[in-house]
Amino acid sequence: MRFKDQVVIITGATGGLGADAARSFAGEGARLLLVDRDDGAALAAELGARFHRADVTRDADVAGYVQVALDAFGRIDVFFNNAGIEGRVAPITELTEADFDAVMGVNVKGVFLGLRHVLPVMLRQRAGAIVNTGSTASHVGSPGLGPYVASKHAVLGLTRVAAVEAARAGVRVNAVCPGPTETRMIRSLEEQAAARGLNDARERYMAGIPLGRYCTPAEVTAAVMFLCSAEASGITGTHLLVDGGRTGAPSSSAIR
Ligand SMILES: NC(=O)c1ccc[n+]([C@@H]2O[C@H](COP(=O)([O-])OP(=O)(O)OC[C@H]3O[C@@H](n4cnc5c(N)ncnc54)[C@H](O)[C@@H]3O)[C@@H](O)[C@H]2O)c1
Repeated sequence: MRFKDQVVIITGATGGLGADAARSFAGEGARLLLVDRDDGAALAAELGARFHRADVTRDADVAGYVQVALDAFGRIDVFFNNAGIEGRVAPITELTEADFDAVMGVNVKGVFLGLRHVLPVMLRQRAGAIVNTGSTASHVGSPGLGPYVASKHAVLGLTRVAAVEAARAGVRVNAVCPGPTETRMIRSLEEQAAARGLNDARERYMAGIPLGRYCTPAEVTAAVMFLCSAEASGITGTHLLVDGGRTGAPSSSAIR
């Protein structure tokens, strides 16, 4: 019960990673506000949580979910700033301004707005822990994913700046950087790659992962919960990769 009675906000809460984290935080005693643009009422009912529908790209919506948390619970201890989209898979030369804006809107502006509205609450409390969701795409390039890779690099930049700005108030800000993980998003990426002629996309992705498989949402959640817990009290402004070794040894699949 590491999070007993702590107030936790999760964005992207009805998605694969968000819902898994919601179940685990609930299982460790947290009081939860789940936020998503899709309906999360059923998940909230299952977990005894609150749900608030919001678009993380809209400042008023973000201010709204922070106010809902404060009205319901009076404080915010943990913020999992996690909503994200993959966007359209295509080379930069084929992508449009709208493709770019859509991905940057959710993955960068959404993360920024979450920090902008949650940090003042935590700074007043002089306590709090935030985890932003990065990716292996925060660290390496990936063909066909220009806006996504740019957006996830930016998430690390925001994480570092927020961490140093908040540190003296006792507020920690870190990122979790998953590799391919078993959720809707990786299925979408596989399907889009297949539609562009990469029929064995799943096998090729896995061949580049030293562990030889995708990670599970539970493995990512474990890292998120560690970073938000008292055990990580000395850790801020950094990231934790949960990627099966993908970025540590990108060519390891060649020799076994
Ligand atoms: N699955 C992977 O392989 C993987 C790898 C690295 C990073 N990530 C990151 O993990 C995070 C969670 O992704 P996931 O794998 O659970 O995918 P997912 O598609 O299952 O979940 C994403 C959630 O974000 C929500 N969302 C999207 N746009 C939103 C908006 N404007 N406002 C509010 N909610 C919005 C969606 O409705 C969805 O519930 C994302 O930031 C993603 O980039 C995923």
